[in-house]
Amino acid sequence: MKFDTPTPRRTTPGRRTVLKASAALLAAGMLAPISSVLAQMTLRRTQDQILGPFYPIMSKPNRSGDLTRVPGGSERAKGELLIVRGRVIDPHGRPVAGADVEIWQANSAGRYAHPDDTNPAPLDPNFEGFGAVTTGADGRYQFKTIKPLHYPAAPGMIRPAHIHFDVRGKRDELISQMYFEGDPYISKDRFLQSVLNPEALTVKLSPSREDPDFMVAEFDIVFRG
Ligand SMILES: [Fe+2]
Repeated sequence: MKFDTPTPRRTTPGRRTVLKASAALLAAGMLAPISSVLAQMTLRRTQDQILGPFYPIMSKPNRSGDLTRVPGGSERAKGELLIVRGRVIDPHGRPVAGADVEIWQANSAGRYAHPDDTNPAPLDPNFEGFGAVTTGADGRYQFKTIKPLHYPAAPGMIRPAHIHFDVRGKRDELISQMYFEGDPYISKDRFLQSVLNPEALTVKLSPSREDPDFMVAEFDIVFRG
């Protein structure tokens, strides 16, 4: 009778074996409690990006959380509707309550409502593009806005679509930019490509379950709080 050659057993210990060994070591006081190990793990701070020339110095941010409408306006801003949301957390993953999250961006034609923007693309009277919200106890923030368009920043230089962030806590301030996966201008953008991990500043959009008119961008912020 011929037998098949048995499949070689793996030489690395299985998950159950590791858990049993860890439990034994923990019981013997040879391993730190898992909670203290987790407490020592730290998340990488969200990567900084330049403030850029179009920070809206001339106006105050809209604090309604909905940039698709302006106060007193009757129409919605032009463009692809977008919910930008996420958590503001510290390097240990704890929510940062009371952080001020500010965003500003170009409109759906690639134009900022800023006097120094020389892009001939039209302004949208129903879009200011400058908002702020404060995180709650869970560290969460959310904006309704529109997806900005890429724009010419200098001769031969197009900036990919992005949303600027300025996040202020009690001890830290983070200035960065959020980009969109699949944008054809991402790979040549010297600002995004200057960071160690460009993918970490790039979001993938998914349809909103709550409101089918919106796509959702999830963008968590890590800073010292
Ligand atoms: Fe910009």
